[in-house]
Amino acid sequence: MKIGLFSDPHYSSQELTGGNRRNNLSLGKMRAALEYFEAEKCDRVICLGDLTDTEDTKEKEIANMRQIAALFSEFSMPITVLMGNHDAYVFTAAEFYALLGGCEPTDLHENGVHLLFLDTNYTADGVRYTPHGFRWDDVGLPDPDGLRIKLENLDGDVYIFLHQNIDPAIPAADHRLANADEVCRIIEQSGKVKAVYQGHFHWGNRSSRNGVDYITLPAMAVYDDTEIIIEV
Ligand SMILES: [Fe+2]
Ligand SMILES: [Fe+2]
Repeated sequence: MKIGLFSDPHYSSQELTGGNRRNNLSLGKMRAALEYFEAEKCDRVICLGDLTDTEDTKEKEIANMRQIAALFSEFSMPITVLMGNHDAYVFTAAEFYALLGGCEPTDLHENGVHLLFLDTNYTADGVRYTPHGFRWDDVGLPDPDGLRIKLENLDGDVYIFLHQNIDPAIPAADHRLANADEVCRIIEQSGKVKAVYQGHFHWGNRSSRNGVDYITLPAMAVYDDTEIIIEV
């Protein structure tokens, strides 16, 4: 299975936010990435979150999502979008996926290969993020034991996708889940997970530990040519 990956477009009408996010360029960058994935005959596309960003009105935030949905509808490849903290700051999950017209993450099992999507838009105490109602660095995976059980019941190679970070090699502890060490232990001890793909840490990172590759994509909003294709 050939998968096109990109992360952190932070698309909005603004020219510059946070000192280095060129938000309004990301629609064009997403188009270029999707055209590249289509030309390379990718079977599917995954966005690792922070698809959009905050505006001064809800109308503008909705209009940005409609532009993205129109772009996605031009392509026949199935597109999965994980919500990032910036998406959850603006929209509920129901609003977000309704505006996109789909793209909800659903675990995929194909020819002995398993793609698992983790939703980490929760506080360390397991409270679901609500729009304008959380701190971005208060983050955790609720029910890590559920992941352990899920992994125990799978045969074959597993690939995990999430927005926020678990990789201990990320040089910014505030980007990691409060229970990242426990989640890493579960993943590494399963012996089934080949790689973990993350966004959120905009500089990107790659590391390997106990047989698991941790790949953090650099942010599309900050850099050029950040998209990658993987084969699993
Ligand atoms: Fe981001
Ligand atoms: Fe993020």
